[in-house]
Amino acid sequence: MEIRRALPQDIRELLHRLKMRSKYAVLLVFVISLIIIEKENNFISRVSDKLKQSPQALAEANSTEVSPAPAENGSLASLQELDAAFFQLRSHLYNITLQLAGDGDPGPRRHLLLMATTRTGSSFVGEFFNQQGSIFYLFEPLWHVEKTVTFLPGGASAVGSALVYRDVLKQLLLCDLYILENFISPAPEGHLTPFLFRRGSSHSLCEEPVCTPSTKKVFEKYYCKNRRCGPLNITLAVEACRRKQHVALKTVRIRQLEFLQPLVEDPRLDLRIIQLVRDPRAVLASRMVAFSGKYETWKKWASEGEAPLREEEVQRLRGNCESIRVSAELGLRRPGWLRG
Ligand SMILES: *[C@@H]1O[C@H](CO)[C@@H](O)[C@H](O)[C@H]1NC(C)=O
Ligand SMILES: *[C@@H]1O[C@H](CO)[C@@H](O)[C@H](O)[C@H]1NC(C)=O
Ligand SMILES: *[C@@H]1O[C@H](CO)[C@@H](O)[C@H](O)[C@H]1NC(C)=O
Ligand SMILES: *[C@@H]1O[C@H](CO)[C@@H](O)[C@H](O)[C@H]1NC(C)=O
Repeated sequence: MEIRRALPQDIRELLHRLKMRSKYAVLLVFVISLIIIEKENNFISRVSDKLKQSPQALAEANSTEVSPAPAENGSLASLQELDAAFFQLRSHLYNITLQLAGDGDPGPRRHLLLMATTRTGSSFVGEFFNQQGSIFYLFEPLWHVEKTVTFLPGGASAVGSALVYRDVLKQLLLCDLYILENFISPAPEGHLTPFLFRRGSSHSLCEEPVCTPSTKKVFEKYYCKNRRCGPLNITLAVEACRRKQHVALKTVRIRQLEFLQPLVEDPRLDLRIIQLVRDPRAVLASRMVAFSGKYETWKKWASEGEAPLREEEVQRLRGNCESIRVSAELGLRRPGWLRG
């Protein structure tokens, strides 16, 4: 158990929660928030002024077990240090993987939901579950649902879509991947589709026997990275899911933890939820780079100083912070349904 002692507190906590009884863990993403350049730091403090609140205090008050993220420091951003931090985290995750997999006793079937917002490092953490042979992992399957549900004129209400997300998640955790066929466009024929979003990010969908010999004439929008496969046979994927010991899903589309209560209470599931939290201001700065087009107003505001910022944009950011806070507070308060 030496490895455990060497782990940073929050990773150790994660391991503990996965193996032990609690159904909820918060993972504060700190390594990734080290990618803070001076400019971003300025930006962050300006956003803070704008929000006139301190989202950093996020639910730490009542938590004894979750360690706070270390202070952001521009000087840590030197690439070398970043590299070192990254490799160390990777080594930690790798060791945890070995431990989870190598216990000999297979233990009960577990279901894992990685709940995050974009640019929190969720792909990175998800990848660590993906790499494990005993886990069936899907990367953002709700993408298809959002495409379909918000397609309606006027858009579905937030509550309405959250309920759809939840019910789809439940089926997916139960390995009923056929549920996605209602949302994949164009609709699969004979349970066959080349359009499953980010298939290549799911190891289980790119290995035998789910990877069938490729057929030259079919255009694969989301293809496997390491090898060529034929269109996805959803029946084969369902069978693979049932064979794996655990199921893990990553999503950025669940905003409120409370919506997941029926899943946690479903006797067919043994659900563990990991919420990834990163300083929302750093998330915003990162999104401005990654999804440049969508954040024009913020970019103008950041570069031109006084360019007006629409109240609605500020409200949206505030809303994001608020739902993260509400969920994390609920999780850390550990209501009955989140206890093991
Ligand atoms: C901490 O707990 C107290 C009492 O249980 C409560 O009043 C307060 O709102 C909690 N604070 C946070 C940040 O959860
Ligand atoms: C932050 O940067 C300052 C100046 O470079 C340095 O003196 C300080 O030790 C750093 N703090 C941390 C926590 O690394
Ligand atoms: C992971 O395990 C290896 C071998 O036991 C050990 O050398 C290494 O220090 C561990 N890494 C971390 C970060 O604990
Ligand atoms: C998909 O896989 C199932 C299960 O092996 C098989 O019965 C079915 O024929 C396959 N579908 C196609 C179109 O190949």
